[in-house]
Amino acid sequence: MAALEKITVLGAGNVGGSLAQRLAEMDLAKEVVLLDIIDGLPQGKALDIQESAPIIGFSTKVTGSLSLEAIRGSDLVIETAGLARKPGMSRSDLLTKNADILRGHAVAVKSFAPNSVVLVVTNPVDVMTYWFRRVSGLPPARVFGESGTLDTARFRTFVAMELGVAPRDVTSFVLGTHGDTMVPVLSLSSVSGVPLTRLLSADKLAAIVKRTQQGGGEIVNLLKTGSAFYAPSASQAELARAVGRDEKRVLPVTAHLQGEYGLTDLCFGVPALVGRAGVEKILEVDLTPTERAAFDASVKAVREDLQVLAALPV
Ligand code: LAC
Repeated sequence: MAALEKITVLGAGNVGGSLAQRLAEMDLAKEVVLLDIIDGLPQGKALDIQESAPIIGFSTKVTGSLSLEAIRGSDLVIETAGLARKPGMSRSDLLTKNADILRGHAVAVKSFAPNSVVLVVTNPVDVMTYWFRRVSGLPPARVFGESGTLDTARFRTFVAMELGVAPRDVTSFVLGTHGDTMVPVLSLSSVSGVPLTRLLSADKLAAIVKRTQQGGGEIVNLLKTGSAFYAPSASQAELARAVGRDEKRVLPVTAHLQGEYGLTDLCFGVPALVGRAGVEKILEVDLTPTERAAFDASVKAVREDLQVLAALPV
């Protein structure tokens, strides 16, 4: 049974299209709207997904739209719009252009769906989540970003490949920014409860940490014309389900910090309880001194990007 009335996916690029498909196949909402500014793109992808319904068996109505008014009545809005990285670009290079695009969307959400939960995916995601919250004026708990679920999925995948175990049996938290200074927390990583530090050598773990930190770039370099979308959309769908079905999942997300970890005025990757109200609680986990130092270095990287944002008109 559909948990939500309506989900709007802003941006019908590779991420938005793949996500709309996953959401429809999950039957999470009665309606999924795919929205973009390129005439034909959201309508075409939506119709294509809709035509798979008889085979897959979902009931979700999938529509495409060019109008921000289509946001009206959404319970959940997922922001995927914006430019993606090309080889040689950092996520921060996208900052000002994507802030311009998100400004209009945040204003539209404020007027058409002020009670919605918003999941921000656009990069640089820590900064864009902060920006979307600020412009929309929505409560901090209802605007959060996807990063840790994706980065943790990459880490879990690489560990599973190394050990030859089922990927889903690997658990971990990748915290901090969605960038090169992200922090895979080894002290909280295990295979079905067996500490990872007992299963892999320090060298192997260091290599997996590095590959995770550069995981998005690895795909950008392979694709050459854009960035990843299958694992990102899977991670977004996981978060959407946590909200839609009020699952109370414990997942790493980009959350608005208000004193947790001794930090304020920042959106940052931390473990949180995710349910129908969005980020229902931020969990403060113990980090080793080395992990905390890496966490603080990651905070510094996000604060630098936030300074660029401070100069932009809201
Ligand atoms: C990635 C991009 C989408 O990590 O940020 O693949």
